Amino acid sequence: MHSLLFLTACLGLFSCVCTSPITYESVRGTPYKVSYDNRAITINGARTMLIAGAIHYPRSTPGMWPYIMKMAKNQGLNTVQTYVFWNIHEQKPGVLDFSGRANLSKFLQDAADAGLFVNLRIGPYVCAEWNNGGLPAWLNQVPNISFRSHNEAWESAMRKFVMSIIEYVNPYLAKNGGPIILAQIENEYGGNDQEYVNWCGSLVTNELSSTQIPWIMCNGHAANSTIETCNSCNCLDDGWIDRHRHDFPDKPMLFTENEGWFQPWGEAVAIRTTTDVAYSVAEWFAGGGSYHSYYMWHGGNNYGRTAGSGITTMYADDVLLHADGTPNEPKYTQLSRLQHLIADHAEVLLRDYSSRTPLPYWDGAKWSTGTQQFVYSYSSALHFVCNQFDNPLSVLFRNQNISMAGQSVRIFDNDLNLLWDSANTSGIASDNTEFFPVVIGPLVWKTWSEPTESNLPVLTSPNPIEQLKITNDETIYLWYRRNITLTPLQAQANTIIKFDTRKSNALLFFLNGEFLGEFDNHDHNQGGLTATIAVDLSTFKPNQQYSFEILSVSLGLDNGVWENNFEYKGIVGNVWLGGQSLINDTNNPWEHQKGLVGEYFQIYTEQGSSKVDWSTQWTKGIDKPITWFQARFDLDHLVREDTNANPVLLDAQGLNRGHAFVNGNDLGLYWLIQGVCQDKTPCCCQHAQINCMQPTQRYYHIPSDWLMPKNNLITVFDDLGAHSPGSVGLVQRVVLP
Ligand SMILES: *[C@@H]1O[C@H](CO)[C@@H](O)[C@H](O)[C@H]1NC(C)=O
Ligand SMILES: *[C@@H]1O[C@H](CO)[C@@H](O)[C@H](O)[C@H]1NC(C)=O
Ligand SMILES: *[C@@H]1O[C@H](CO)[C@@H](O)[C@H](O)[C@H]1NC(C)=O
Ligand SMILES: *[C@@H]1O[C@H](CO)[C@@H](O)[C@H](O)[C@H]1NC(C)=O
Ligand SMILES: *[C@@H]1O[C@H](CO)[C@@H](O)[C@H](O)[C@H]1NC(C)=O
Ligand SMILES: *[C@@H]1O[C@H](CO)[C@@H](O)[C@H](O)[C@H]1NC(C)=O
Ligand SMILES: *[C@@H]1O[C@H](CO)[C@@H](O)[C@H](O)[C@H]1NC(C)=O
Repeated sequence: MHSLLFLTACLGLFSCVCTSPITYESVRGTPYKVSYDNRAITINGARTMLIAGAIHYPRSTPGMWPYIMKMAKNQGLNTVQTYVFWNIHEQKPGVLDFSGRANLSKFLQDAADAGLFVNLRIGPYVCAEWNNGGLPAWLNQVPNISFRSHNEAWESAMRKFVMSIIEYVNPYLAKNGGPIILAQIENEYGGNDQEYVNWCGSLVTNELSSTQIPWIMCNGHAANSTIETCNSCNCLDDGWIDRHRHDFPDKPMLFTENEGWFQPWGEAVAIRTTTDVAYSVAEWFAGGGSYHSYYMWHGGNNYGRTAGSGITTMYADDVLLHADGTPNEPKYTQLSRLQHLIADHAEVLLRDYSSRTPLPYWDGAKWSTGTQQFVYSYSSALHFVCNQFDNPLSVLFRNQNISMAGQSVRIFDNDLNLLWDSANTSGIASDNTEFFPVVIGPLVWKTWSEPTESNLPVLTSPNPIEQLKITNDETIYLWYRRNITLTPLQAQANTIIKFDTRKSNALLFFLNGEFLGEFDNHDHNQGGLTATIAVDLSTFKPNQQYSFEILSVSLGLDNGVWENNFEYKGIVGNVWLGGQSLINDTNNPWEHQKGLVGEYFQIYTEQGSSKVDWSTQWTKGIDKPITWFQARFDLDHLVREDTNANPVLLDAQGLNRGHAFVNGNDLGLYWLIQGVCQDKTPCCCQHAQINCMQPTQRYYHIPSDWLMPKNNLITVFDDLGAHSPGSVGLVQRVVLP
């Protein structure tokens, strides 16, 4: 019925729309209607093929957005997808911030200017390998809250935030001529609280109905008023398409996340092959999908302290546009060709669903028929010949013997001309970039040591207090300090410190400012753990009082947050020194200092830099924990002017672990930890690992709008102690013609 109506409309009134698919340009600025039928999202009644990619605004910068949008459009997207990140917009309860990387309206405007539609995935729980899954850490302190469940405190906080975002983006909604055509409530809800799912649904049908756009709930329980969508590596092969057609025959098939995904610290770099992504995207459109989004299209970077537990600063580097903004070839071009092909044939594809027709395959002796070789044909225009089998084989289609690579799709026109082959990337240059030094010779550093004692305000309590309760995650650092009189048994060469802490947390131990040792866990996970380290206290005298100092460093709040599974950091129970419990001792309370002195003075900024006494004898800072370094550099040796297309990177070789700042902007956690190749297949659609035993991440992106032609201020805080700051460099990654 729908397709007939559409065909009539096509041949009649809107014939222009049929030959070129609707893009945002054709509706820009005038109110338009968005709805859906069983086949696709409709725009002013016409089915529209949505070719999308995820780009998260805070994972790049306002100065990069127009460049990224232009690349996305050229590469063949017509839609951009982003989450909304609650914890960058409401760092303090009730105070909303939309400045800088949180300038969502500028991001929406940049998408609109490039002619792109937007799918706004509000959540506000977003997961995303983002710090705390997007939830502000202060929510932990809301009385009686139980996250993502039918709980009054949670639902009231969630409603309030979602409504304030809807009010903020109102000018950008389709009904006002803006680019937003689709929104999302919740995210991958896999819990059992049906009342909460119903509540999400009622929010959409009541308060949110004024948005006049469809709402989705992805990869999990969906409310009746929303569209359930697929997040996967391959939504055809994993059976999602069949299930969806069966369970929701009146709803279109939308693929919100085709996963390219993330990188944990300490593992070798995981990659997903171009041919696998190409196979999965082609099968999706073959099977009747009408919205496809790469997760990510551009992963960008977890600048500052935005990464989820154990996640590297570069995010989803192996997707179509690298984390630093350079095209990832041959993926970029291979998928671009497919997307343009799909867009050019959108009208015929969207007329109806095609059914899957099995094809005979050559078993060595005869043509046999199985279930893994099939074709989806669209009218007499496009034929998607698919081979699900792992190995190459030949299939018989229209009396033609066609050789297929393992797990591949070939697209033919009606004369059996091959238009595209998912498995064939020959002729596309793979990595076509080269690194050039921007600064010739080593940087001229100065150094300053972060003190273990200070005059900053402290909070005193008989026992150590959980970190987030004090910091609200406004800093990743918390000092714990107390006095201790060493017993003869403790003042030994091999004394054990035992402590209750959390995953994805580092702890550095000091006595009277002297470094004793370090513990870290970088699991991409949450949970408590009790750990020990052995330290040498033989040089300290027994029966004397010392100051025992612990610097706790959050390595990211886990993104998996649900119900009462709160994320915590720091010391979450007891600390023992040589078997002696260091809690419940009213004579020796614990002091808590939120953040570093260097942070308090913001010594990484022009104004703050002069507030401490830097030493030019920077080599004295080598291998010394909790040490700051600072230098200046000019961009005299750029190979290309355009630092969006040819990004500038910090080559962190020589550093150890910490944060680097350029002109006051935090580049995110750097860590030169070695990437170990795993025996098991890497996580989440990724098949292969590269750079075994190399640092998981050596280069750190510096956004174009954080750089100046002259006199840039670079500051480094290395908590573990930098081995060779003289090796640190700045390079430009140049895309060769
Ligand atoms: C967001 O960006 C726009 C466009 O550049 C600018 O006019 C506006 O002031 C920015 N908003 C904030 C809160 O900084
Ligand atoms: C929290 O729950 C307790 C026990 O159910 C109740 O007495 C208290 O009033 C609640 N507090 C708030 C702020 O809702
Ligand atoms: C959702 O739809 C199902 C099937 O029609 C129905 O049984 C259920 O009551 C609906 N739920 C709500 C909250 O309306
Ligand atoms: C089909 O092509 C394959 C590969 O070239 C070949 O091995 C096979 O014999 C062919 N089958 C027929 C029936 O021609
Ligand atoms: C791959 O494509 C190139 C042209 O780009 C073509 O010359 C070559 O024969 C193709 N390879 C296969 C195996 O089809
Ligand atoms: C440690 O002891 C000194 C005096 O010996 C005292 O001034 C200081 O406040 C104590 N520190 C703590 C954390 O109690
Ligand atoms: C600390 O005191 C609390 C409350 O009195 C008690 O429950 C706990 O067992 C004590 N822990 C230790 C290690 O002494």
